[in-house]
Amino acid sequence: MPSSTAPPPGDWLAAAPGAVQAVNRFVEVNRPPEADSASLCGEIGRYYGLPRDAVLVGPGTASLLHGIVARHAPAGGSVVFSEPSFFLYRWLVEAYGLTHRAVPLRDYRHDVAAIGAAITQDTRLVLVDSPNNVTGTTISLPEVRALAQRLPAGAVLVFDNVYGEYAPERIESDFGSTIGSGLPIVICRSFSKARQLFGLRVGYLLGAPSLLRAVGPRVLRYDVSGPAQAAAVASMQDEESMRRNVRLMAAAVEEAAALLGAQGFRVVAGHAGSVLIDCRERGPALPDALRSAGCDVRSDHPGLPDHVQLLISDHTTVGRVRAALRSASLTGAT
Ligand SMILES: Cc1ncc(COP(=O)(O)O)c(C=O)c1O
Repeated sequence: MPSSTAPPPGDWLAAAPGAVQAVNRFVEVNRPPEADSASLCGEIGRYYGLPRDAVLVGPGTASLLHGIVARHAPAGGSVVFSEPSFFLYRWLVEAYGLTHRAVPLRDYRHDVAAIGAAITQDTRLVLVDSPNNVTGTTISLPEVRALAQRLPAGAVLVFDNVYGEYAPERIESDFGSTIGSGLPIVICRSFSKARQLFGLRVGYLLGAPSLLRAVGPRVLRYDVSGPAQAAAVASMQDEESMRRNVRLMAAAVEEAAALLGAQGFRVVAGHAGSVLIDCRERGPALPDALRSAGCDVRSDHPGLPDHVQLLISDHTTVGRVRAALRSASLTGAT
C-alpha cells in the first residue's frame, strides 16, 4: 500500500503545471501582492463572461463565507441551511450568535420546499452547498432562483458551488443570467477542489457588483498573496488540467462506490469528492476497517446517523477501500 505522503503519481489529481511554475518562479516576495487581486478578477471574469467587478477574490471560500456571515451578524436574524451540509455554516452562525434554521436533507438531497418554508421575515442568509459537502447531491439554478425570490429585503442566498466543477451538469453558462437577474444571489467557487490549489488559499464570489458591495464580505486589498494570485491566474488559463482532475475524481468515486456496492452497501456517489455510505444495517465494521486501512472517513453528520463519508483524499484511497473490504472484521460481517 503506497503511503499517503508519497507524491501523487502522474495519473492522479494535480494543479495546473503552469500554476506550480508560477509559484516556483515567484521571487518578488518583498513586494506587495497586486491589490484586490485585480488581474485574477479580470481572468475569472473573462472565463465566465462577467465584468471584473462581478468577481470578488479572497483567501479561500471559507474566509469569504466567514466575511458574509460577519457582515450580516450585527443586524441579527436567522440563517437557513440544510443539515448536513458544510459544517462551517453552523459553526459560523453559532460563533456570531445568529439563529439557525437547519433543514434536514430529504433522500440525501436539499429539500427545496422545506428550505423555502424555513425562510421568514427575519432571514438574513440562506446557505446552499451544491454539490452538498456530505452527500455530493446538487440543486439546480432554477431552484436556487425560486428560493431567492422568497427572501425578505436585504437577505442573500449564497450558492456555494465549490465542488461545481465535479458535477456533470455544466451550469456555468447560466451564472451570468443568474447574477444579472436582480435576485440577491452570490455564487462561491474555489481553487481548492478541482483546481487543486488548496494550500494557496484562493476562492471567489460571483455576484452583481452592487450586491457584492452592499452585502458581500470585506476583503482587504492584500489578503491574497502574490504566489496565490499568480498560480490562480495560470490555473484559469489551463482548462484541460482541471478537466483531467474532474475525470480522475469521477472515476475514483465510481470505483470506490462500485466496490462498496458489490458488498451490499448502499452508497451515494455524489460530486463532492467523497462517497457517502449507509452503515445502518451492517454496524461499525466497515467504518472501522476503512479507518484501519488509513482512509479519511467522517461520521457524526447531523441527521445522518450510521452513515459515513469516505473522502477520496488521494490516489491511495481506492486501494485502501479494497484492503478494508478484504479485512477479516468485515468478512465476518458479510
Ligand atoms: C461546501 C464547501 N464550501 C466551501 C469550502 C471551503 O473551500 P476553500 O478551500 O476555498 O476555503 C469547503 C471546503 O471543504 C466546502 O466543502
